[in-house]
Formats: sequence, structure tokens, C-alpha cells
Amino acid sequence: MQLFLDTTDTAVLAELADTGLVDGVTTNPTLIAKSGRPMLEVIKEICDLVDGPVSAEVAATDTATILKEGEKLAAIATNVVVKVPLTFEGLKAVQTFAANGIMTNVTLCFSATQAMLAAKAGATFISPFIGRLDDHGADGMDLIQEIRTIYDNYEFDTEILAASIRTSAHVKEAALFGADCATLPPSVFRELIKHPLTDRGLDAFLADWAKTGQSIL
Ligand code: E4P
Repeated sequence: MQLFLDTTDTAVLAELADTGLVDGVTTNPTLIAKSGRPMLEVIKEICDLVDGPVSAEVAATDTATILKEGEKLAAIATNVVVKVPLTFEGLKAVQTFAANGIMTNVTLCFSATQAMLAAKAGATFISPFIGRLDDHGADGMDLIQEIRTIYDNYEFDTEILAASIRTSAHVKEAALFGADCATLPPSVFRELIKHPLTDRGLDAFLADWAKTGQSIL
């Protein structure tokens, strides 16, 4: 499973990318606003830190302007993925981007039929928003399963990018249900490695090793 970080904090990104386990990055207008920095500068810096896909979201809602904005964003680096809203105007732009070899991430997906349309348009990634569906009283994981089944039934190559992830349990379930990737807030990425028995076990091993008085090196 590919793990992306959902952040515009380049200091945190640099630190976590150093683990060698970060496959890409996603951003959105809210995260850009949170950074307080010019979008093009932030996206360029992120692309310099991470070789994998970096999603940069358009702000326009009409096809012609989405295409102009997307071309500008895609020119920043070869790993930029143009993030487009799940509307008919957006999906028209996705078809043109696909024909021109520009990767896309179709965002704000809340239903299986939306995901089917995005795949038909040739999206590189579809982003079902798990946490926001859960907040809305639905089960976000049901959507992951539905999309997986539909994409497999028709051999769509669009990758399922589980988004709006809130917990490490979301990551586990998305992986169990066949999402290709998940985008995580840095705090959730850090949670993935934690287990109290690992900490306790390591402490005991280190204490016993110290008692031996030995050194491997
Ligand atoms: C990523 O592509 C999405 O924009 C992000 O995961 C949304 O997360 P949120 O619902 O926590 O804002």
C-alpha cells in the first residue's frame, strides 16, 4: 500500500520522508491556507522533497480555467498530480489531462457512482473521503469496498486513494479492503508504528543485554 502524507508542512514532511516510507503527498486549499505560503512555492518545495506523486488542487470550477490552472501546476515538476473536484466540469478537464499525459486526483468523492464516473474519465487517483463520511453518519469503509468491487469488475486502472483519514484503524481497514493508497495526516503516520508491547519488549531486551556486559561492535 502506498502511503502519502496529507500536509503542506515541509519541515514535518522532510522529517517523515527520511523514514523512506513516504510514497507521495496530497495537499488541498485548506492546507495551503494553513501554511500561510504561496501555493506554487510550497508545491515546488514538496516536489523537491518527495519523488512520488504530489497532488496540487485547482481552485477553478469551470473546465477551461481548471485546464489552465492544471497545466500551470503540472509544469512545476513531473511528479505533480492535478487535483480536480468531482463535478462534470472537473471530469471534462480530467479527460483532457489524461489525453495530454497529466496525472489527476479526483477529490471530494462520497459515492461509488462518483468514483465510477471519475474512472471512466481517466482519473489517475480517486479520493474517497473516509473521515468526512463517518462524520456524516455513514461508514467510509463501505465506500472503499464498493469502489474496489466496481473498479475490479471493469478493470479500471484508477487508483483508490483513501483520504480524510483520521486514525490508524482507518489505514488498516483501507488496506484490508484493497485501497491502493492512503493519505495520512502526519500524526496518524507516526501512530502506525506504535504499540505498547513493542516499547515494553524493547526496554526489557535492552536491559537484559546491558546485564551481559557485551558489545556487538
Ligand atoms: C486529501 O486529499 C484530502 O483533501 C484530505 O484527506 C481531507 O481530509 P479532511 O477531511 O481531514 O480535511
